[in-house]
Amino acid sequence: MTATYAVLSEGLEKRFGDVHAVRGLDLAVPEGTVCGVLGPNGAGKTTAVRLLTTLLRPDAGSVRVAGHDLVREPAAVRRRIGVTGQDTSVDADLTGRQNLWLFARLHRVPNASARADELLERFGLTQAADRTASTYSGGMRRRLDLAASLLRRPAVLFLDEPTTGLDPASRNHIWDSVRELKRQGTTVVLTTQYLDEADRLADDIALVDRGRIAHTGSPAELKALIGTHAEVVVPHADDMPRAAAVLDRLTGSEPLFEPERRAVGAVTTDPTLTLPRLVRELDAAGVPLLDVSLRPPTLDDVFLRLTGESRATEEIAA
Ligand SMILES: Nc1ncnc2c1ncn2[C@@H]1O[C@H](COP(=O)(O)OP(=O)(O)OP(=O)(O)O)[C@@H](O)[C@H]1O
Ligand SMILES: [Mg+2]
Repeated sequence: MTATYAVLSEGLEKRFGDVHAVRGLDLAVPEGTVCGVLGPNGAGKTTAVRLLTTLLRPDAGSVRVAGHDLVREPAAVRRRIGVTGQDTSVDADLTGRQNLWLFARLHRVPNASARADELLERFGLTQAADRTASTYSGGMRRRLDLAASLLRRPAVLFLDEPTTGLDPASRNHIWDSVRELKRQGTTVVLTTQYLDEADRLADDIALVDRGRIAHTGSPAELKALIGTHAEVVVPHADDMPRAAAVLDRLTGSEPLFEPERRAVGAVTTDPTLTLPRLVRELDAAGVPLLDVSLRPPTLDDVFLRLTGESRATEEIAA
């Protein structure tokens, strides 16, 4: 049974002194799928990735990665995985090409030169290949790092927040690469703080909260569980009760008022509640409108719903 899972961890634990960073993490990632590990700052994502990639030794737990026992056969695990950390491991004094060669030599990659050229091409770095990496943008460095982790054609690739801080074009580039890797059969475990990123890429999302998986499910399941926010902004405070009545009727959930903004909001899990329908219904009820929106759930909504806590406090603490 374990053969069908690229990653299978049970009761994974890691403490740093008083900080219990990973507290019984259970993760099952079927081969050939993309698993999005979603969580706020300090949830334990990087620690989990470092444990699963043998960079840290677990205090407890049993883990198999790419068919090998993590603690008993770390070298075998290492041979079958690739990892791109939250901070890139690119050497700024070397060119892009030299960075790949160095990595290839360290890991005894066969046909390193041809493989490096192929990856430079694939990540749009051919033109910049012979410039020192110090001249690269953040997105280019991240792509070079990703190229390096693919030199050995890993069976399982771990990406720690691969798009944090990148511009939209670079994010798209990374997203395309992840999709392409999946098509080729690579299992990908990626951590992210963005629900929309997990939504776009992942087959399953594991929501991490303080070192534990709080929930696992497909993006659709997660979104269905949380629901969409409908919000209506009206010109006058007097219009708010009527707007609320319409929202109440359409969503079946209790509307929330924000008097300062003259806004009324409610959550719905009804997929037939589209924006045009909402506008039509409000219009029919004679509610004057300044703005109407339907917004998909955010990470904050997910956390509120599944852990009963906003992540805002942790963000301030981080
Ligand atoms: N080497 C370390 N020594 C002491 N504490 C650590 C160490 N590494 C991580 N921690 C602590 O473990 C907890 C989890 O940290 P981790 O870096 O895994 O979170 P994260 O989910 O990756 O956060 P971010 O989104 O900010 O990258 C934090 O409280 C952090 O301060
Ligand atoms: Mg991290």
